[in-house]
Amino acid sequence: MEHTTPSRTAQRVAIRRAAHQLLDDPKVFEDPLAIAIAGGESEPPADAQKPYSRALRAFIAVRSRYAEDRLARAVERGVRQYVLLGAGLDTFAYRNPWRSAGLDVIEVDHPATQEWKRARLNEAGIKIPEEMTFAAVNFETHALDARLQEVGFRRTSTAFFSWLGVTPYLSRPAFDATVEFVASLPSGSGVVFDYARERSLLSPLQQLALDALAERVARAGEPFQLFFDPAVLRRDLERLGFRNIEDLDGDEINARYFAGRADGLAVSGGGHLLYARVS
Ligand SMILES: C[S@@+](CC[C@H](N)C(=O)[O-])C[C@H]1O[C@@H](n2cnc3c(N)ncnc32)[C@H](O)[C@@H]1O
Repeated sequence: MEHTTPSRTAQRVAIRRAAHQLLDDPKVFEDPLAIAIAGGESEPPADAQKPYSRALRAFIAVRSRYAEDRLARAVERGVRQYVLLGAGLDTFAYRNPWRSAGLDVIEVDHPATQEWKRARLNEAGIKIPEEMTFAAVNFETHALDARLQEVGFRRTSTAFFSWLGVTPYLSRPAFDATVEFVASLPSGSGVVFDYARERSLLSPLQQLALDALAERVARAGEPFQLFFDPAVLRRDLERLGFRNIEDLDGDEINARYFAGRADGLAVSGGGHLLYARVS
């Protein structure tokens, strides 16, 4: 992607999270700051009720819900560092329910996206809390480890990472370097990320949806480049020392988070949600 301008996909997913707050009932992901951070638009996008748009919005909402569900369990186990990798316009840091329990938050992203986010926060009247920090990192070229330690990350304590909507945009070496870093942290640390299944493993309908989305993000200057075979990914993560791996495909996501809805909101693409804990 263009590293000198803010991420356009970050803006787009924020708009879809805001649309989820406005259009879907019940909400799978409650985010009282989603509308303000997305620019305060009270009108959802014109295509919001089209099937592909609903399914994409469902995936974007549920991945944040899944990450925060897993974070809650990590905090219960005593984790007190939360790192958002490729944070975009995520609002967790500004509504952190574990502030008084001492949960520190670090947002990692490209500098241009972070600068734009600060301006957005300012315009929306959202205060930057004291226990959060920004770390400017390009996963392709920077050592995440060193950058995090520069902003106060405690390497000898457990940490929880979310990495939402980012892996498809990375090279495989950048992905590997990041998961290797997480795997090197103390036992009990964990990560949630979403990923796209390899095209050849998708149904014809899912292939069409992927191709359409891939074209849109490429036009935004942020082409997809990384896809996984779930079985191979699991093996690779286990080899690094991750255990308790949970890898949810679309059917499993729907069964857990979208069952019994009157409005039929559900995911339908080839996106997976994965949680892995350092053993
Ligand atoms: C689709 S957005 C998702 C943002 C956020 N996680 C969310 O769910 O709203 C992708 C994010 O990944 C970041 N990103 C992509 N490639 C990156 C890289 N090589 N280094 C750092 N950040 C990157 C972008 O700046 C952007 O914030």
